[in-house]
Amino acid sequence: MAYMRIAKVLLALRALSGGGVALSGKSVFDYGFGSGTFYRHCPKDARLSGVEMDAENIRDVLAMLEARGQKADLQKIEIENWSIHPLLQRSYDVFLCSHVLEHLADPVDFLQRVRSCVEPGGVFLGLVPVNEWVANPHHVQVPDRAKIEGWLNTAGYELLLYEENDPFTYYAMPLYAVDSGWKHAAARALSLGLGVPASLLGWRAWFTLGRVFSALSGARPAQAVFLCRPFSVPAK
Ligand SMILES: C[S@@+](CC[C@H](N)C(=O)[O-])C[C@H]1O[C@@H](n2cnc3c(N)ncnc32)[C@H](O)[C@@H]1O
Repeated sequence: MAYMRIAKVLLALRALSGGGVALSGKSVFDYGFGSGTFYRHCPKDARLSGVEMDAENIRDVLAMLEARGQKADLQKIEIENWSIHPLLQRSYDVFLCSHVLEHLADPVDFLQRVRSCVEPGGVFLGLVPVNEWVANPHHVQVPDRAKIEGWLNTAGYELLLYEENDPFTYYAMPLYAVDSGWKHAAARALSLGLGVPASLLGWRAWFTLGRVFSALSGARPAQAVFLCRPFSVPAK
């Protein structure tokens, strides 16, 4: 129910719907899946896999999926040798990369490496924070549309869909940039307060409300989502 998790998933689902991509029966790979919230929203017949740096997260997400009767191939990845990970030797119908690119020193290098992980006819689905007016100490990139288009162009992807949305936490950004103290506690409370209505309303109503909220309050979108595919997938 935490908004900071559900908001990313709802925006990803909106982009998939906009791009006409259904997840049923598809192979779905989540790079840096964190708490694995996206998997919870995948149909039971989707084939799930992913990598994550935090071993505790991997255990928790596997347990969560098992309780739901879902199987997944989830493996630990080390930064030092991420590019030769066995799960990156395969290809997937949907390659999700949510709030990871802003952590990378060289997003183009990453995007180039994972091109071959996108099945012919498959998609790369990316999400990043935008309009950050408070510096986040964990982020080494400050993405905007021009920068994202530049990365994709250089790495050899065709952009299919781009959208900025999710203005609800824009003014609360200072609360989310710290990892402890009262601001962190306030951020968690706000996250729960927004997470419940967002989950209940679903992405269609929630992001329509986002446009209205933005127009009334002047809040800018806090996230961008983009759907793209490699110009040509290298022969295997
Ligand atoms: C903010 S979390 C995003 C988690 C989840 N995808 C989400 O949207 O909530 C960033 C993830 O990126 C991955 N990551 C962070 N820095 C990285 C790096 N330098 N190289 C590779 N992966 C990295 C980690 O696995 C981490 O879980």
